[in-house]
Amino acid sequence: MFGRSLITLLAASAAQLAIALPLEARANSGNSSFLPTDIGLNITYSGPHNASLPNVAIFATGGTIAGSSSSELDTTSYTAGVVGIAALIEAVPQLLDVANVQGSQIINIASESLNSTIVLQIAKFANAVLCAEGSTTDGLVITHGTDTLEETAFLMDSVVNCGKPVVLVGAMRPSTAISADGPANLLEAVTLAGEPDARDRGALIALNDRIGSALYTQKNNANTINTFTAVEQGNIGGFLSTKPFFYYPAGQPTFKETFDISSVNELPMVDVLYGHQSFDWKLIQEAIDNGAKGIVIAGTGAGSLSDLTIIEVERLLKQGFPIVASTKINEGAVPAGRDWISAGFLNPVKARIRLQLAIATGLDMNGIRAKFENTLVGYLDK
Ligand SMILES: *[C@@H]1O[C@H](CO)[C@@H](O)[C@H](O)[C@H]1NC(C)=O
Ligand SMILES: *[C@@H]1O[C@H](CO)[C@@H](O)[C@H](O)[C@H]1NC(C)=O
Ligand SMILES: *[C@@H]1O[C@H](CO)[C@@H](O)[C@H](O)[C@H]1NC(C)=O
Ligand SMILES: *[C@@H]1O[C@H](CO)[C@@H](O)[C@H](O)[C@H]1NC(C)=O
Repeated sequence: MFGRSLITLLAASAAQLAIALPLEARANSGNSSFLPTDIGLNITYSGPHNASLPNVAIFATGGTIAGSSSSELDTTSYTAGVVGIAALIEAVPQLLDVANVQGSQIINIASESLNSTIVLQIAKFANAVLCAEGSTTDGLVITHGTDTLEETAFLMDSVVNCGKPVVLVGAMRPSTAISADGPANLLEAVTLAGEPDARDRGALIALNDRIGSALYTQKNNANTINTFTAVEQGNIGGFLSTKPFFYYPAGQPTFKETFDISSVNELPMVDVLYGHQSFDWKLIQEAIDNGAKGIVIAGTGAGSLSDLTIIEVERLLKQGFPIVASTKINEGAVPAGRDWISAGFLNPVKARIRLQLAIATGLDMNGIRAKFENTLVGYLDK
């Protein structure tokens, strides 16, 4: 459970929080449940209802925010994904002052063990909860391990697009650690998800008092709490005394592409191969033999591949097999206009998800290339 001293501290400062979200009265009086029950979603937490607060759903998936260790000093060898959603929410009672909260424990594991089946299911639940006609849910928070948080965030940004906030949140220190960051992160994420000004900005990542765009933000430090950054694009906002603010008016990221997953029932296998000296180009065919329907190569620079790899990539592209070149460098873009498909500003793991979506929605090679390169060419090749 969260450290008692931190809970006491948060409780003491709760009285000072100015909680006055400008919200129109809810039309759902008489039925305070805002999560649909007919979509297979198990509602595992349902808090009290106050008609003047926003309705925020929480999907809990596990990770360090739900992690536990026998030592307060342990921030590296704890067990992730053991604390349930009810315990997470009850450890931060201030949540109930900023939103009506209902939650579902989708799964409780470390995020490196999440797979495409689960995240596609989460995306479908997110659309059903937020975007179905008559929905009275104002925003969604997904609690998540940080290791693959940017991947799920990018998927949500690509496929959940009815304007309502989807906020990904996690923690770098387990719930049992001294100065655990989970409670404040969760309170800020729920506040953000219920904030009208968070709408129409795409999926958001909220940790460490910062708000980042899911398209650009990535994990940049394996250990520290200031890990989620977009070095070039920056944060789009942050939190002061747990209240969100934005540096810019609402808007979508330039290089965003959206997909309709209503008829997608599975995401194809797409592998990422990491570029380096002595890269073995034969690994590409081995990945295909193993079932890959597309490949992303994390190139050594701006998409650069060895001479022998380029020959192999061109052979496969001619056969209609999609290969996307991204970069293993943290910042910068792979330019368009080469034989291979350019990932543009997407890092390898995000390019992988966009390629999965492009294949799953039935695009041919030209369609796939357009989803990656059109905006890039429109901006940089005029
Ligand atoms: C309350 O509303 C939710 C969401 O619209 C719906 O799924 C549920 O069936 C309703 N419950 C009752 C008792 O009407
Ligand atoms: C809901 O709960 C039931 C019973 O525990 C379980 O079989 C099912 O897989 C759960 N569904 C989801 C989406 O978690
Ligand atoms: C409902 O929320 C409003 C706005 O935060 C608050 O002023 C009011 O006291 C709450 N009502 C109850 C019964 O908690
Ligand atoms: C994905 O993970 C879930 C839960 O761990 C598991 O039930 C499912 O079989 C996995 N799917 C694939 C394709 O491995």
